Amino acid sequence: MTGENAGRLPKGWLDTLKMPVIAAPMFLVSSAAMVLEACRGGIIGCMPTVNARTPEILDQRLSELADSFDKASAAGEVLAPWALGVTTHRTNERLPADLELCRKYRPPLVITAMGSPKPAIEVVHSYGGLVFADVSTPEYARKAAEAGADGLVLVCAGAGGHTGQIAAPAFVNAVREFFDGIIVIGGAISTGSAVRSAQVLGADLVYVGTRLIACEESTADARYKQMVVEATSKDLVMTNVLTGAWSHKLRRSLEAVGLDPDNLATAKEFDLKYADNKPKAWKDIWSAGQGVGSVRGIEPMGEIVAGLVREYRKAIRDEAVDPWFSKYAGDAA
Ligand SMILES: Cc1cc2nc3c(=O)[nH]c(=O)nc-3n(C[C@H](O)[C@H](O)[C@H](O)COP(=O)(O)O)c2cc1C
Repeated sequence: MTGENAGRLPKGWLDTLKMPVIAAPMFLVSSAAMVLEACRGGIIGCMPTVNARTPEILDQRLSELADSFDKASAAGEVLAPWALGVTTHRTNERLPADLELCRKYRPPLVITAMGSPKPAIEVVHSYGGLVFADVSTPEYARKAAEAGADGLVLVCAGAGGHTGQIAAPAFVNAVREFFDGIIVIGGAISTGSAVRSAQVLGADLVYVGTRLIACEESTADARYKQMVVEATSKDLVMTNVLTGAWSHKLRRSLEAVGLDPDNLATAKEFDLKYADNKPKAWKDIWSAGQGVGSVRGIEPMGEIVAGLVREYRKAIRDEAVDPWFSKYAGDAA
């Protein structure tokens, strides 16, 4: 992989990545099979630990994943690094157990969300891994940098899941003023050319989430995948009513549980906690980012990744024949 910002990434990562992308961790969507196919395809595979319902199940999945990595390596495949997403919010009671599993399976990257990266740093650094912190404002970015994160994931406007609200160019600029580590940009990036544009903005790596929801290996409900295939950005509603945090939801999934997407204040009447017979904020009401229109079908993860790599390479080739490129490339002034 090449690129103007590639210098901040560990050399070992550069050798195995085909493009500077992390398959973003997605609750109830990312699977171990997606992580494997991401790494085989040359991007960083990641899943949130909580997608395995208990640490014991996570242990089992990571053991199987490690076996699959070993087999692929033995067969001569070059694998990109893999990552785990860990929730460091103080209410996450399984955090110590999940961090012990990080120590055991040594993901080269751990990405913290919904809290300080601090609890993960000692464990992950002890085996030579890196810790990135997912942040949605420059203020949180500063706190995470001060806590010692190696990288910051800037979740910008247009993202799936809990979205940020700051446009990527402004967010990157604000953070680069005080942070010289690795920057990841996320939010509505669903094509290879968008990945390239994020690099030009100053990203060292790029999060791609929504583009992968409908892959065959994802654990998303089949109706969710189909809704994602059929949706464009006009089919999204941004709300903070359901969980307290801002998120884009698919209108049709809100309607399917009896909510009026244009009048979500009434949603407060719903008990969105995990009670029986009630719609659940993530399980039954589905999120996607503004890049959702790029998803055209349910495809194997490997094919989606290969397509992104092709688009990314084309974007770079197109740059080289852009008249502005020949006008300014090599121009030191
Ligand atoms: C359905 C869904 C679930 C998500 N769950 C998580 C999560 O559990 N932890 C996390 O850090 N981010 C989560 N995210 C956010 C993604 O990691 C990432 O920031 C986002 O997908 C990037 O924007 P994009 O979807 O527009 O590509 C989720 C996103 C989606 C779409």
